[in-house]
Amino acid sequence: MDILVVNGPNLGYLGQRQPEVYGSQGMDALPELVQRLLGENARHVTLTLFQSNSEGTLIDRLEEAWKANVHGLVLNAGAYTHTSLALADCLAWIRIPCVEVHLSNVHARASAIRHQSLIARHCIGAIAGFGIMSYALAVQALWQRLGSPEA
Ligand code: DQA
Repeated sequence: MDILVVNGPNLGYLGQRQPEVYGSQGMDALPELVQRLLGENARHVTLTLFQSNSEGTLIDRLEEAWKANVHGLVLNAGAYTHTSLALADCLAWIRIPCVEVHLSNVHARASAIRHQSLIARHCIGAIAGFGIMSYALAVQALWQRLGSPEA
């Protein structure tokens, strides 16, 4: 099962960007967390990581994933979550099962715009507030929905 993990703007230096808000782990921690959650089944899952600060580049990458028949998406669109109709439009038509993720608990953040997501209605679910573990939990959710024999 091929899963593309996409990080949007300002998510290229995880572990270094405001660790008090976004945690001190980088994306390099993800494979081990996935291994811990999926155990034996982790070998059935191939993770590809992508990050861009540009809205158009993110859309280009999602279209590429559609062409390549990627099975699932884990998407942290960063601030574009709250503002990008273009990203939402892309998810609406490529229809790859997508889990929206956030490192921080966006619903508990002070700024009200962070409580809004334009992409949420095009995602199968959302996980927020667990740092890099949010991504691992999203991979587990995709595995259970799409990859496991019981799916
Ligand atoms: C974020 C939350 C967004 O509000 C913010 O703009 C980010 C990161 C998160 O992972 O907590 O860049 O998506």
